[in-house]
Amino acid sequence: MIGILLTSVTEFILYVCFSILIGSLILFMVPKNKKTDVYIPKKLLYLSAILIPVAAFAPVLQTAIILAYGMDLWSILTNIILTFEIGKAWVFISIVTIILIFVLKSKNLSTKMHLKTWALFLVLLMLLGYTRSAHASTITEWRGFLFQTLHFLSVTIWIGILFIVSWFSKDKRNWKAFLKWFTPVAMVCLIIAMVAGYFTMGIDIDSYDDLDASITQEYQNSLITNYGQALLLKHILIISLVLFALVNGVMFRKRYNDESFHPLKWARMESFYALIVFGVTAFMGQSWPPHQIYSLIKTEGASPLFTALYDGDIVNDIQNAGQSGVFNVTISFGLENYLLLGLGSLFLVLTVYAATYKKSVFLSTSFSLLMSISFYMAIILGIQ
Ligand code: HEM
Repeated sequence: MIGILLTSVTEFILYVCFSILIGSLILFMVPKNKKTDVYIPKKLLYLSAILIPVAAFAPVLQTAIILAYGMDLWSILTNIILTFEIGKAWVFISIVTIILIFVLKSKNLSTKMHLKTWALFLVLLMLLGYTRSAHASTITEWRGFLFQTLHFLSVTIWIGILFIVSWFSKDKRNWKAFLKWFTPVAMVCLIIAMVAGYFTMGIDIDSYDDLDASITQEYQNSLITNYGQALLLKHILIISLVLFALVNGVMFRKRYNDESFHPLKWARMESFYALIVFGVTAFMGQSWPPHQIYSLIKTEGASPLFTALYDGDIVNDIQNAGQSGVFNVTISFGLENYLLLGLGSLFLVLTVYAATYKKSVFLSTSFSLLMSISFYMAIILGIQ
C-alpha cells in the first residue's frame, strides 16, 4: 500500500507538471489584450520539466523492485529501461526533456513564436511518451493510446490554463476578454475529456471473467476494488468541478464590471477541485485495474473504504469461492437511496446559490462537499 501511495504522489506531480507546462506555453501564445497580466517564473517551467522524468521514473523503479525479488536490482532496472514499454517511454521522455530545457532557457522564449511552438511541440512529444506506456495503451492495439492521449491532452489544456491564470495573474484586468475565449476552450476540452474518458474507462475496467458484461455491470463490479472506488469518487468530484466551472464561466458574467468581485479567488477554487480530481485519478491509476474481480479480491482483498461501509456478502462470497467465476455486484435503490439522491440534489442547488447570491467560497465549498457525500452514500448504500 505504501508503494501505491508513493507512486500516486509521483503520478500526481506528473499531471500537475504537464498542466503547468502546457498551460504556460499556450498562454505565451495568446495576445496580451486577450489575457490577464500573468507573470510565469522561468524557474517554475524548469522545475516542471525536470520533475516529469523524475516522477516518471517511480513506476519504472517500482516494477524493478517487484521483479528483482532478491536478484541484482541494477541489472533488472537496465533490462526494464531497455526492453519494457514503460522503460523505453522513460528514456524517450528524459531525452526530450533535455532538449526542452535548452529551448526554455533561450532568452526570447516569451517573444519568439517559433521557440514557443517548439517548446509546446516537445511537451506534446513527452505527453505522447507518457500515454504510450499507460495501462489502456499497452493492452490494446491503438484505441487505448488514442483515447488516453485525447483525455490527458484535453485535461491538461483546460486545467493548465486555469492553474496559471488563477495563480500567476497580477490582477483581474482583461478578465472578460480572457473568459471570452477560455470558456469555449474549457467546454470543448471537458466534452473531449468525458467522451475519451468513457472509452478509456471501458478498456480499463473491461472484465476478463465475463466477456459479455456491459460497461454498467463492469462499473458496478469495480466498486468493491480500490480502482472502482476511486473512479466513483472521481466522477462525483467532477460534478463539483463542473459546477464551479459553470459558475465562473457563465453565471458570474454580469459581475465582471463589479469592483468588489474577485474572479481570481473563484478560479483558484475551481483549480483546487481539479487538484483533488488529479489526486484521486493518480491513486486510481496506480491501483490494480478490475479486469478479474475474483483473483483481485483473493490476492489484494476488497477496498478498505468499501468494506467499512458495506455490510452485504459479496466480498465473503468471492473470498470463499473455490474457483474463478462470474461475480456480479448489483445496485438497487430504495427509499433511503432516493432520499440521499434528493438531498445531494438540494446541496447541488445550494452550492450554486451560495456562490452566485451569497458570494461565499466557504459556504459553496461546504455545500458541494455535502453534495458529494450524499451522492456517494446513495450509491454505496444501494450495493446489494
Ligand atoms: C466522465 C468523465 C471521466 C472519465 C470516465 C474518466 C476516466 C479516466 C480513466 C479510466 C483514466 C485512466 C486511469 C488509469 O490510468 O487507469 C483517466 C485518467 C485521467 N483522468 Fe479522467 N476521466 C473523466 C474525466 C476527467 C476529468 C474531468 C479530469 C480533470 C479534471 C480527468 C483527469 C484525468 C487525468 C489527469 C488522468 C491521468 C492521465 C491519463 O492517464 O490519461 N478526468 N480518466
